[in-house]
Amino acid sequence: MLIRAGEPVAVPTETVYGLAADATDSQAVAGIYSAKGRPSFNPLIVHVADMEMARRLADFSPQAEQLAARFWPGALTMVLPVRADSGLSPLVMAGLPTVALRLPAHPAMRALIRESGRPLAAPSANRSGSISPSRAEHVLASLNGKIRMILDEGPTSEGLESTIAAPEADRIRLLRPGPVTAAMLEEASGLPVITGKDNAKIEAPGQLESHYAPSKPVRLNALRAEKDEYLIGFGLMPCHLNLSVDADLREAAANLFAALHVADASTQERIAVAPIPDEGIGTAINDRLRRAAA
Ligand code: TXA
Ligand code: MG
Repeated sequence: MLIRAGEPVAVPTETVYGLAADATDSQAVAGIYSAKGRPSFNPLIVHVADMEMARRLADFSPQAEQLAARFWPGALTMVLPVRADSGLSPLVMAGLPTVALRLPAHPAMRALIRESGRPLAAPSANRSGSISPSRAEHVLASLNGKIRMILDEGPTSEGLESTIAAPEADRIRLLRPGPVTAAMLEEASGLPVITGKDNAKIEAPGQLESHYAPSKPVRLNALRAEKDEYLIGFGLMPCHLNLSVDADLREAAANLFAALHVADASTQERIAVAPIPDEGIGTAINDRLRRAAA
């Protein structure tokens, strides 16, 4: 199969489509960076099929075990100390002493890990810096000609990239908001969740401004469309495309990237987006929208 041959394959997870390759094979990992046009200082998430595989790659503190028990399989990525004998390609960590691990729920990704027998490094399957793919056609539009295979399993259920968190002894650091919210992490761990970084070093370069960017200017908190704008709405309002008429934040998250793709491809010159409540997964939606507008 392609994975064994060191080729990257696009595969859905419950969050977004990933571009997966054998995380133990440096050639294969280099193939991901070149297909995406991704800077090599930006490390990759490693996907595992079970806890046994996870524990062979990283050291699990009691806090990490607790979060894994509660949220895996699912949309949580944990940044953990990488083991010296992990066998992972150093390109995956891009020089960091930690590895970002996730045990996804999607059967297609799980089957791919199981069948290849390898941990799979997989960033979102889009050109670096552009909108993440929640459907196979987004992958095709972004990476056509750069990859040999896309496993098309329809739209993803969550629609936003996983939450990235670094569990520490007395707190959880939230590096990227996502479907697993700060409140959920706090409730599960009994620890305070602090957002952002505690130093200047970029810890999740997905945190860089101007990530997830459409090719058109984006205006946020728009209540109506200006003449040249494509308005993405939320809740009952006149607009070109509505993220959720019922003002349901989970539905809006699942529809967000597809809406940005449609708006980007429209004849309108600019994109406007309605205000989204900053609660629950709305925090992650607003995080992605701020970057789209940056
Ligand atoms: O939902 C997701 O997480 C998707 C699916 C495919 O799993 N993947 C994804 O990967 O969003 P990517 O490469 O687009 O984003 C990975 C993020 C980047 O911001 C990267 O900087 C961060 O994870 N990251 C990876 N390793 C890290 C580490 N050791 N420490 C801190 N951040 C890390
Ligand atoms: Mg990405």
